[in-house]
Amino acid sequence: MIVATKTLAVVPSLLAGDLARLGEQLDQVKAAGCHWVSVDVMDGHFVPNLSFGPDFVKLAKKKGFYVDTHLMVTNPMQVAPWFVEAGTDVLTAHIEVLENPAESMKAIRKLGVKSGLAVKPKTAVDGLIKALDSVDLALVMTVEPGFGGQKFMADMMPKVAALRAAIDEKNLDCWIQVDGGVNAVNIAQCAAAGADSLVAGSAVFAAKDPAAAFRELELKARAAFKPQQ
Ligand code: DX5
Repeated sequence: MIVATKTLAVVPSLLAGDLARLGEQLDQVKAAGCHWVSVDVMDGHFVPNLSFGPDFVKLAKKKGFYVDTHLMVTNPMQVAPWFVEAGTDVLTAHIEVLENPAESMKAIRKLGVKSGLAVKPKTAVDGLIKALDSVDLALVMTVEPGFGGQKFMADMMPKVAALRAAIDEKNLDCWIQVDGGVNAVNIAQCAAAGADSLVAGSAVFAAKDPAAAFRELELKARAAFKPQQ
């Protein structure tokens, strides 16, 4: 299976999907060229909401997608094996709950999947930059995690630019993902700052035509993204 080529990817988030028609909506974005989706896992503790379990990862894998699982939980290392077993390709944990982020990332890689490390809006990016050698995906939240449909925080872009500089300087093979409030108005700004994995929930699945919405986001992001020379 072709996984996301390391140029740029727009990544629909299943949280915004219509659960009565999720399979159909996944087929629609797949037909539009999408190959990567994101599954949000919330425990009602790290964030004030509850969402999906491993079965949603299984559904997305069954549909042939590359999947990242975004763990918004206080015990990511305990639940990690369930999502690895479900077939996730990337497993992202939040730095705010990890005592030793670099060690946790290495432990995730040892489970046979790519490691992802996320920062909330109020968390500085320094700790993430320090752990970059063991990170395959660096996630900058552009909303306070917990709900879809929130307003995009443009003041998170300096974190993206700092990550882009650190990753390019070390010539690391690491994705920079943004997540929260990303839409057709602000996606170019994210790509121009250096993000190459752009999560979009309501901008895709709450649109009248998810396939057309996906294509528009991809066009705008690709036009603004400057790959490393
Ligand atoms: C929020 C989640 C996001 C959310 C994105 O905590 O991590 O993935 O579903 O949805 P939008 O794009 O609607 O903000």
